[in-house]
Amino acid sequence: MCGIIGYTGRRQAAPVLLDGLKRLEYRGYDSAGIALVRGTGFFVRKKKGRVEELSETASERGTVGIGHTRWATHGEPSERNAHPHVCGKFALVHNGIVENGFRLRKELEETGEIFSSDTDSETVVRLLNRLYDGDVLAALKKTAERLEGSYALAILCADFPDEIFCARRASPLIVGVGAGECYAVSDPVAVAGREGKFYALSDGEFARLSPDGATVYDRYLRPVAKEEKQYGRAEVPQLGAFRHFMRKEMEEIPDAIEKSLLKFIDEPLKNLMRRTKSVSIVACGTAYHSGVAAKTAIEALARIPVEVCVASEYRYGNPVSGEGTLVLAVSQSGETADTIAAARLAKERGASVVAVTNVADSTLTTAADLTLYTYAGREIGVAATKSYNAQLALLYSFAVALAQGKGREELPYSALTELPALAKRALRACDGVRSWAQRFQNARSVFFIGRGSDYAAALEGSLKLKELSYLPSEGYAAGELKHGTLALIDRNTPVVALLTNREIAEKTMNAVHEAYARGARVFLVTSLPEYALRKEVSASVVVPETDPLFSPALSVIPLQALAYYTALACGNDPDKPRNLAKSVTVE
Ligand code: M6R
Repeated sequence: MCGIIGYTGRRQAAPVLLDGLKRLEYRGYDSAGIALVRGTGFFVRKKKGRVEELSETASERGTVGIGHTRWATHGEPSERNAHPHVCGKFALVHNGIVENGFRLRKELEETGEIFSSDTDSETVVRLLNRLYDGDVLAALKKTAERLEGSYALAILCADFPDEIFCARRASPLIVGVGAGECYAVSDPVAVAGREGKFYALSDGEFARLSPDGATVYDRYLRPVAKEEKQYGRAEVPQLGAFRHFMRKEMEEIPDAIEKSLLKFIDEPLKNLMRRTKSVSIVACGTAYHSGVAAKTAIEALARIPVEVCVASEYRYGNPVSGEGTLVLAVSQSGETADTIAAARLAKERGASVVAVTNVADSTLTTAADLTLYTYAGREIGVAATKSYNAQLALLYSFAVALAQGKGREELPYSALTELPALAKRALRACDGVRSWAQRFQNARSVFFIGRGSDYAAALEGSLKLKELSYLPSEGYAAGELKHGTLALIDRNTPVVALLTNREIAEKTMNAVHEAYARGARVFLVTSLPEYALRKEVSASVVVPETDPLFSPALSVIPLQALAYYTALACGNDPDKPRNLAKSVTVE
């Protein structure tokens, strides 16, 4: 998603902006740009493609500026649609979506404005310029009142050449105050390691930054005191000896699991668990898949009904939730717009909401009654890896605690504490799938099949493969294949079968046999080595055995590796898949 960095201070701004934009790259983007205050106007440079395209601007003079990485929503990825957008005395960068942008644009065009981009963001800078009569904050407040949707804004005004003006609604924005300098950023990574005090703007707030400090204002433009956050202490992840963050982050899985297991259930959480009659899990993408895996574990252990909902559907559905419903809103970033909206809706309906996130003080935490943190560390690869395993660790231990609270004592908690060591062994199995990549890269489509927990892992394995290799792929319940989908399977359709539950292994093998009989080559990921010898199996990797309820935390590891190696075989960058963003902060 889009990224913002603003700087005002004693140093030259361009190198600071470019460094910030480089750090924001991992979020996913298709164009980038910067604006510096220059005399009575601005120096602006925008480029389609990578931040490197802007490197010649590093020597441009100017101590105040804003920069942006854009992930296209309104208007194609192009130089003209890249930010900053300039109108009259203003240059502006915007994260979010102005939902009434089309209407506002029409209104402005009818009264003489000529737009130079296709973006919703340009309507904001044009409106601001119209409403300005010497008081930027007053004009910004009036502008904000006209906007529907979400925004984080950083704005330069030629009349106030030392300052940056900010506004936020539903898109994150952080203000940093150092010695003789200030920052405005949309993501803590852009200020990691920087000296200073950092403050997160809340919805509806504005800020005014100068080298001498920053003032934050509420929606009525009254100054407000803010609580300091520790963003500067975060570290900027380094690749070290790895070629890609994704592969490095996979190596961090055992640690992420170990740290994310719930070791202590405090009273507020115990109380909440006691009141729980049903659980709804709302999430997107990989986090949704960890919800699917958690459902199996919670229902089996705690005997409480669980529904798993794609957050974007939940928020516009008419969910039945209220007292007694515990909503787990799961999100690595804690900034996914759909998940935040689903959590807010659940709360409105009277449910108890627990956020499960990897990012301290993320927006999702403000929508929840309680927050449980995963400790996967910062994840840079767009494809979620260690954060999935961390979510599973947390949700599985949550399932065990919930069951204990319901008086069910015979529980496999020791199996959870063994997971980190087993994950280390599963990582060693990854070399086994390296040679599979050649056979996948030219496939017409791929199927991942399994039952129960294996089905949950199949969904995630399939998502990994499609987002990194761009191959059509589907995760399917093994028993469902014969009800129509088998028609798609032939010799050009590799089938990855997951087999970790002895009790239903033969049932899954029926589906394997049906695929094999139609010419498919079958690749097996199993904790049951005897099945690797079956004639239907072309190739296999063996992962360590654990309680079948928890097996996705291990069986997903070779699937992540398969996606990684297939991406390389296809010539794709596994860290930056096309069209995708790390956290999706718009609808
Ligand atoms: O930050 P979140 O966990 O809320 O993100 C949800 C999805 O956007 C995310 O998991 C996405 O599906 C990943 N790129 C998958 O690898």
